[in-house]
Amino acid sequence: MTQSIITSGFPNQRPRRMRKDDFSRRLMQENVLTVNDLIYPCFVLEGSNQRQQVSSMPGVERLSIDLLLKEAEIIHRLGVPVMALFPVTPVEKKTEDASEAYNPEGLVQQAVRALRQEFPELGIMTDVALDPFTTHGQDGLLDDNGYIVNDHTVDVLIKQALSHAEAGAQIVAPSDMMDGRIGAIRDALEFNSHIHTRIMAYSAKYASSFYGPFRDAVGSSGNLGSGNKFTYQMDPANSDEALHEVALDIQEGADMVMVKPGMPYLDVLYRVKDTFKKPTYVYQVSGEYAMLKAAIDNGWLTESVIMESLLAFKRAGADGILTYFAKEVAQQLKAGI
Ligand code: PBG
Repeated sequence: MTQSIITSGFPNQRPRRMRKDDFSRRLMQENVLTVNDLIYPCFVLEGSNQRQQVSSMPGVERLSIDLLLKEAEIIHRLGVPVMALFPVTPVEKKTEDASEAYNPEGLVQQAVRALRQEFPELGIMTDVALDPFTTHGQDGLLDDNGYIVNDHTVDVLIKQALSHAEAGAQIVAPSDMMDGRIGAIRDALEFNSHIHTRIMAYSAKYASSFYGPFRDAVGSSGNLGSGNKFTYQMDPANSDEALHEVALDIQEGADMVMVKPGMPYLDVLYRVKDTFKKPTYVYQVSGEYAMLKAAIDNGWLTESVIMESLLAFKRAGADGILTYFAKEVAQQLKAGI
């Protein structure tokens, strides 16, 4: 009998000890979400005093620029660092060649100028992709067989990114997944003296069904119809390919890289941050918002799932999160909830 009678049967480690009280729970907390982690995506409408609900995203509205400025004031005061803009293009401005994308008087370009003038310190990020401007709802130009051509699309993306930078956007975010577009846009920005314009690359963007409500919000789903984006967005089955895409974008000059969607792709987010240690972002996309919101509104889940979902991104390695919940989360953080 060498074993002590006193210790026998007692666990050596009791992890619950640290979880017992609020103070020790706080003391061992590994990740926190702050307002600095948030990017707020907004849908922009033409006209003035226009406000439309997005039916598949309860609580999200499309706003005309005058109302967007009011929203920006709230966001800025809450300390959210960046607003991301997505235009709703009227059908009559959509064309095969997406020329509205680089119109200096286009909706996004006007919105950027207005926001930069009113709130010079607020970060403004723009989406570089052609889908809101094409009659077919694809992110690029089509050839006679309906294939999305890469290099001609990149030529248009360059013009679009330059028009955003000229309007004052501090971050341009190519979300189109064409090959070589980060390098081409970086070169064009440098050549045109926009050396400070940051590029957030949608590097690992999957061909996901979670974008459905977004396509309703910007009015591109009707145009896309039964079409898909499989020839340029990534297969949800892959993750090594995501690392390859991220490596290319970094090599081509991306300042920030992104994984999209978010929650179903936490493994990809983790691998990207772990491998490259670059500023890494994640997009909690429209379908994720819709799912959580529907469950909350029905009383099936409590509101606390929002914070839990965002903390999961932090844990997986995100430096920042695009989320339609940004405003309400910033309000909660400020109130200390
Ligand atoms: C445009 C773009 C999309 C999203 C962001 N930029 C849609 C798509 O690629 O079809 C989706 C965002 C969301 O679902 O919240 N290329």
